[in-house]
Formats: sequence, C-alpha cells, structure tokens
Amino acid sequence: ETTVAHVFVTLGASGDLAKKKIYPTLWWLYRDGLLPPKTHFIGYARSKLQMADIREKALPFMKVKNGEEEKLEAFFKVNQYISGDYNSQADFQKLNQLIAKIGSCNRIFYLALPPNIFEPATTQIKNVCMSQNDQWTRVIIEKPFGRDLETYLALRDHISTLFTEEQIYRIDHYLGKEMVQNFMVLRFGNSIFNPIWNRNSIASIVISFKEPIGTQGRGGYFDQSGIIRDVMQNHLLQLLSIVAMEKPPSTNAEDIRNEKVRVLKCVPPVNIKNVVLGQYTGKPGADGEAALGYLDDPTVPKDSVTPTFAAAVLFVKNERWDGVPFILRCGKALNERKAEIRIQFRDVPGDIFQPGLVKRNELVFRVQPKEAVYMKVMTKVPGMAFNCEETELDLTFEKRYEHAKFPDAYERLILDVFTGSQMNFVRSDELYEAWRIFTPLLKSIDNERPTIVPYEFGR
Ligand code: BG6
Repeated sequence: ETTVAHVFVTLGASGDLAKKKIYPTLWWLYRDGLLPPKTHFIGYARSKLQMADIREKALPFMKVKNGEEEKLEAFFKVNQYISGDYNSQADFQKLNQLIAKIGSCNRIFYLALPPNIFEPATTQIKNVCMSQNDQWTRVIIEKPFGRDLETYLALRDHISTLFTEEQIYRIDHYLGKEMVQNFMVLRFGNSIFNPIWNRNSIASIVISFKEPIGTQGRGGYFDQSGIIRDVMQNHLLQLLSIVAMEKPPSTNAEDIRNEKVRVLKCVPPVNIKNVVLGQYTGKPGADGEAALGYLDDPTVPKDSVTPTFAAAVLFVKNERWDGVPFILRCGKALNERKAEIRIQFRDVPGDIFQPGLVKRNELVFRVQPKEAVYMKVMTKVPGMAFNCEETELDLTFEKRYEHAKFPDAYERLILDVFTGSQMNFVRSDELYEAWRIFTPLLKSIDNERPTIVPYEFGR
C-alpha cells in the first residue's frame, strides 16, 4: 500500500482545550471516516499520565453514541501519549522516535499551549521533529498570538524563523462556523446585495457575541486577556472583515485573505471614547455559577479590572463604508448564547405612512445558535384595514435543510489542515492589522484603568 501515513500530535494534551475540543474533534473526524487512512494520534504534555487518563478526561466531551463502541476502541488504538518537557531536546527526540515508528509520514502539530512555553516548544519541533523527504509538517497555533502589537511582532519573528507561512495554521475557530462560511456565498453569489452593501443604504452594522457562562475555571487565562483580546480582537473582527471586504478575484485562499487585510487597513485604531466596558457580578440567590461574580473566581485577583463585557464602535474609512458605525459587542455571563451580525438599513426616504409606523429594514445573520438569515420587512397586516407591521423573510437553516449535518467549527478547520487549505486560517498580516487596531485601546485600559460598569450575571 502506498498511501502515506499521517500523525497528529497534540502538544498540551492534558489541558482544557485538548479535552474539550481537540480530542472530541479528532474522534468525530475519525468516526465519520474523514481522515486519511493510517492516521495516528500522539498526545504530549508535561504531566506523567497514561493514554487512559487522557481518554477519561476527554470522554465526557466526545458524545459517543450507542453502537460506536467498537470504533471508539479502534480510535484509541491509534492514540498514544508521551510525557515530556517543553524545553528538553531529549524529550522531543523521544517524541520524534515515537513518530518514526509510524514510518515516514506527514506531521501535524497542534500547539494547545500557554504562551510562555510556546517558543521553546516550537523551537524543539523545528530542531528534532520535522518530517523528512517529501512529507510535510504543519503546525496549528491558537490564540493568544501575543497580547499587543509588540508582543505579537516578537512572536511573529520567532515563528517565521522556524516555519514558512504555508506551514503555519493560525486558528480563529469562528472562521470554521457554518454561517461564517456561508457569508461568501450569500454576499457574492447573489446580485441583490452588492448594490445596497454600502454607506448609501446601510445605517449601521452590529456584530455581537453573547454567552450565558462566566469564566468557568478559565479565570487564570481570562484575566490575562479580558473580553477584548479573548473575543473582540479576533472573532468579531474576523466577522467584520468578511462583512466589509470587497469581492475577491476568486475563492482562492490568498485572494480572500488579501481582501480581508485590505479592508482592515482602512480601520483606524479604536478610540477609547467609543468604548463601554463591563464586568459581571454575582446574581444574589441564583443557582450555581450565576451566583458568583467575576471577582469570586479564585483564579482572578480580587481587585481585577479586566472587562468581561465590551462594546466598541469601529469605522472603516473607505469609499464603501465611510461614516457607517460598526458596533462590536461581546460579553460573558449574559442572558443567552448568541452570535449574530445585524445590518441596519436607512430610514425610508419620503415616508408616506403614519409617522413612526415604518421601521427600518434589518438583515440579520445568526451565526449561532440555529443558523439563520432573516430580513425584517414592513408588510400590510392582512385584512380590510390598511395597517402596516414589521415581519420577517426567514431562512432558518434547520427548517430548510432538515437532515443536514452542521459540522463543528473545529472539525472543518482540522480537516482543512490535513488537506492543506489555508482559506479559513488567519494570515500574519491580518493579525498585524488586528493588533494595530486594538493595541492603543488595550494600552489605555491597562494604564488608565477606565470605568468598568458592573452588570449582574444573566443580564
Ligand atoms: C473562545 C474564547 O475563543 O471562544 C472563549 O476563548 C469563548 O472565551 C469561545 O467562550 C466562544 O466560542 P463559541 O464557539 O462557543 O461561540
């Protein structure tokens, strides 16, 4: 048999991301037969664990169904774990020996690691773990990609001495979401949108993310970032760039990424005057996590002023968008889980109806939950009387595509790495722009300790 083998190495295999996302995703891809035959998995971390421990940690998140037991055993049969230090060349040599036993193979390294061990780990991969001959090596990296422009540049320079851009897959998992993928088709596969997709017709664009959970044990990580670094600078800005970009010459990865960079270059740094920040407090009498405020998380310093909610107005200074506010809003411990993009149109000019009756059109793209596109339009209330009301033209995907499977974002993205498609990954110049836009704001938050509005969990 000549099919080349693959190995997928998870560095940080004992961590939170690995158990909640990476192992479950690998299992789903394996179960559904989407991975190349002869794919092996290796977990690496400092903790002296066995594969059985990793399995036990990940199992609650893997959603194994009845009848899948045999496949599950087969999956774990091609899984191994090895403990080692991130600074030790000898330990990485052991990892390399383990990989070498598989034979010559393509190699994927997923770095699910805290930032402080990122440099030594990547250096060791480069030193002793790269594939030989015709086989390739790809590395997947996750945020945080630095904490501001300077630290990002240092990270970028480090990585670029080790790997080429083609070898680096920077994950922003929002790019793997079904609705985000669909955006290209909706915008550029329909002729009705482009003529109204500009400052002449659009009054504002609101891009929002809400989740009904607090830090849930990730306080240590979160307090170093805050909601702007955690969600706004990456996930929401990615959505902004896809909404605002010009039509790329093709659907080729570089063509799309060029357009995203081009539009981000037109966004000036966020002004702190256009920003509202909040931090959640416990809800008295509530059950479970909701009773606890951000500062009650034992891993968060008692006097932390890290925002868990932020709203910011951004502008895109180009011919299409000049003057249109892009309102980015994100928060933890809110009333529901929802991510959406709302395009708000201008008032009907020369309105002939009763003043105040006609509402603005709104086009909504719901990213989650329950992907949908709907347009708020005015209609006549059926019947003799001549009354208008607002209603919706509604494309809710689970109604229209009853039996469709909506893959998880990580499933699509990890599969993309196997197939070598970088379309849904963040290029280094995109990240540069993202940090340029947010760094001045982040600096003033760190240095000036601006007002943080408290809000009750679940608001
Ligand atoms: C992650 C953030 O990138 O995205 C988390 O670090 C956040 O804080 C998560 O909860 C939200 O992702 P999703 O896919 O659940 O919307």
